[in-house]
Amino acid sequence: MAQIFPKWANQTPLALGAVAAAFGLAAAGFASYYFSPEYTDVGYQPKQPVPYSHALHAGELGLDCRFCHASVELSPIASVPATEVCMNCHHIVKRDSPVLAAIQKSASSGEPMRWVRVHKVPEYAYFDHSAHLAAGVGCASCHGPIHQMDVVRQVEPLSMAWCLECHRNPDNHLRALGEITDMDWQPPANQAELAARFKQDRALSPPEDCSGCHH
Ligand code: HEC
Ligand code: HEC
Ligand code: HEC
Ligand code: HEC
Ligand code: HEC
Repeated sequence: MAQIFPKWANQTPLALGAVAAAFGLAAAGFASYYFSPEYTDVGYQPKQPVPYSHALHAGELGLDCRFCHASVELSPIASVPATEVCMNCHHIVKRDSPVLAAIQKSASSGEPMRWVRVHKVPEYAYFDHSAHLAAGVGCASCHGPIHQMDVVRQVEPLSMAWCLECHRNPDNHLRALGEITDMDWQPPANQAELAARFKQDRALSPPEDCSGCHH
């Protein structure tokens, strides 16, 4: 697959805006991270400025991941939602709750929320969400059961060995494209057969050569 975005596209908040503009999406749908750690690992679970729960919103309320992470299928980066997305509901629901004070403040001041970033690969390695989702790899394969987490935690090492392990044999991760955000998906009994068909139909070739991930 051709690389549509230059490397800097996942490095600056400004570039995030450029990606948004390129797809004609409202800039309001995107927010930038304030704090980006240099290095993160399995178990990393920073405290967020608002106790937002995926278990409640994506699990119990059943909101689709893409309702909030709107750019995930379109660009290398999975955006975090702008405050307006939360305000769709929270201008009514629990509007006076003290734990939502920072959201209310962000909404009235226009200052974006400063969520703390959890997952990060180093800048010298290239990763693109859209390529993986178009291949039929689901969020759960790389992020685990996010829909059961009150606080997001990293469950995979995001190491080179981890990337390569799947690239060498992605079969158990490939599913129908309508199921990429289905967090309960499990490979069915005829998975080998399905995976062979998906690989052919989608012309998949996960890179194993150095330049595939290090440009
Ligand atoms: C109602 C909005 C909303 C929905 C729906 C939602 N998320 Fe999120 N997500 C957020 C917000 C806000 C953050 C940043 C705060 C945090 O990490 O909890 C976030 C953070 C994340 C992160 C961590 C990002 C990082 O910094 O590395 C992942 C991974 C993630 N979401 C995956 C998912 C998946 C998978 C789904 C669907 C099962 C989903 N989200 C549904 C709002 C949402
Ligand atoms: C589709 C509607 C909807 C959206 C969108 C939504 N929420 Fe919620 N949220 C709810 C509902 C419903 C509750 C549960 C209210 C209750 O407990 O009565 C809730 C509860 C919460 C709570 C707990 C409030 C408390 O006082 O216990 C927080 C914090 C929260 N949401 C943050 C967010 C954030 C941050 C966003 C945006 C990333 C967001 N929500 C987007 C519907 C939504
Ligand atoms: C093939 C593995 C893989 C899949 C599938 C995947 N992610 Fe990610 N995700 C990652 C990696 C790796 C990072 C860190 C990326 C970086 O640092 O550039 C990440 C980062 C994120 C972030 C933080 C913002 C960003 O883009 O860096 C969010 C939010 C997120 N993922 C949400 C999702 C959602 C929602 C889905 C499903 C619709 C999903 N991811 C599917 C591997 C994956
Ligand atoms: C769970 C399986 C899985 C994991 C984990 C995974 N990948 Fe992939 N990756 C794939 C598949 C399948 C493709 C093939 C896509 C195609 O050929 O269209 C792919 C393609 C790619 C491509 C080529 C497409 C593009 O974006 O230019 C790159 C680069 C890439 N992966 C980087 C990574 C990196 C870096 C990691 C680890 C941080 C990673 N992948 C982790 C399954 C995975
Ligand atoms: C599928 C994607 C992928 C391929 C292919 C790949 N790498 Fe990496 N590489 C990564 C990622 C992701 C990291 C960052 C790992 C981390 O943060 O722990 C990395 C890290 C590195 C590092 C930093 C040192 C270290 O081990 O952390 C070196 C050096 C390196 N790769 C060299 C190579 C060489 C040489 C090849 C070809 C033989 C190669 N890579 C192929 C994804 C890839």
